[in-house]
Formats: sequence, C-alpha cells, structure tokens
Amino acid sequence: MRVVVSVGGSVLVPDLDSSRVAGYAAAVEQLLDAGHEVCVVVGGGATAREYIGAARELGANETELDHLGIAVTRLNARLLIAALDERAVSAPATDHGAARTALRRGDVPVMGGTEAGHTTDAVATALAEYVDADLLVYATSVPGVFDADPEADPEATKYSRIGVDDLVALVAEMDIDAGSNAPVDLLATKLLQRAGLRAVVLDGSDPEAVVAAVDGDHDGTDIEPR
Ligand code: UTP
Repeated sequence: MRVVVSVGGSVLVPDLDSSRVAGYAAAVEQLLDAGHEVCVVVGGGATAREYIGAARELGANETELDHLGIAVTRLNARLLIAALDERAVSAPATDHGAARTALRRGDVPVMGGTEAGHTTDAVATALAEYVDADLLVYATSVPGVFDADPEADPEATKYSRIGVDDLVALVAEMDIDAGSNAPVDLLATKLLQRAGLRAVVLDGSDPEAVVAAVDGDHDGTDIEPR
C-alpha cells in the first residue's frame, strides 16, 4: 500500500523528546519492512506557534509568519530524518515534485510545509493525491473527528466513519467558530474531497497507532470518499 502520513508537530515533538521521534521512525520503518511505500509530512507544533507569536509581536506580517512556520516544520522534518535509516531522503523535500521523485527512486520522502497560506495537513493531502496514495493518515493530537469540539462540549461524540462531504460541512462550521479546534483544517478537507482519497484521522501520540491503521485497525475516524 502507498501511504502518506501527516504527523502534527504537536504529535511528533510535543517537547523535544528524542524517544518520541525514534518511535515515529521505527513505525515508518515497520511499514517499509511490511512492503508499504511511505511519505511523511511533518507539522510545526508548539515551536512554530512560539516563533510565530514572537515574530507577530515584532510586527511581522502574516506571510512572514507563514515562512517562519514553514521553517519550523522543516526543522521538525529534519529531526525525523535524523532518526530514520538510509531509506529516507537526506533533507526535507521542499515541494511535491521533489517528494514524488524521491518516492519513485525508492526513498522515503519527508517534508514540512511548502508555500505560505496553508498548513502541513493541506500539504499532505495534496501530496497524497499527487502520488496516488491508497491511504492518508492524519496523526493528530485528538482521537478523531467529533460532531462538536470536544474541548468545548462534553457531549461531543466521535465518528467512527464520516463521508467527506459531511466532514467539509462540519469543519466549515467549526472554522467560523473562532478558537475552535478542527481536527483537520478546511483547506485540507476540501482537497481531500476533490481528490477522492481514503483517509483516517487518529490520535498519533502512539506511533504504533499509525502502523495498526494501515492494517485497517484503529480507534480514530475513517473518512470515506464520495
Ligand atoms: P502546521 O501545519 O504545523 O500547522 O504549520 P498546525 O495546524 O499548527 O499543526 P500542528 O500543531 O503541527 O499539528 C505551522 C504554520 O506554518 C505555516 C502556517 O503559518 C502554519 O500555521 N505553514 C505551514 C505554511 O504557511 N505553509 C505550509 O505549507 C505549512
């Protein structure tokens, strides 16, 4: 199976704990050893938010802040590369073309952000479409997709599966609600809708959950294409 994994920065490096990064590298290697092809897109997490917060106070504009965020995602991608064996690229791919070329060469592409104005979930979704992936795994800090923001609503219920059209509607509604935490951002869900890909949203704090999801076993939410 060809798999793209979008690992949130808050999942890969909630703090600078090398054992978590090593665990992710081991999970990727386990998938490779099982014969899967894997691409990984890494987010910026708390470090990106801290840099963005400081630069905002210094008067940076939104595009400058995005470029800072991208730099941090690539820093995190380098950390994962450091933990992976020689099957990984030696530096983060900076665009989808470079990632696909690496994949075709038989390497594991690892990348962070690409352009200003979106997130690594959108990068991962576009990459999954571009490489014709069989499965896209969003390894997030939440257990899946809920019918309401679980942080704000104790009655919120997790979907075990949801159609992509319903997901887009749900995330669009959450997006309007300032401060709410959508499990996947709106642009990524729209790209997913367009691509017709199979995807899973799960709690990625245990990297083994990603391996199990590729085998069809997870506690998160399946996102079903039209
Ligand atoms: P992330 O993808 O990490 O955003 O990008 P996030 O939603 O905070 O995800 P977690 O916390 O890692 O799970 C961090 C920031 O980098 C910029 C954006 O400003 C984003 O908010 N960025 C990232 C881009 O501008 N373009 C990209 O392709 C990626």
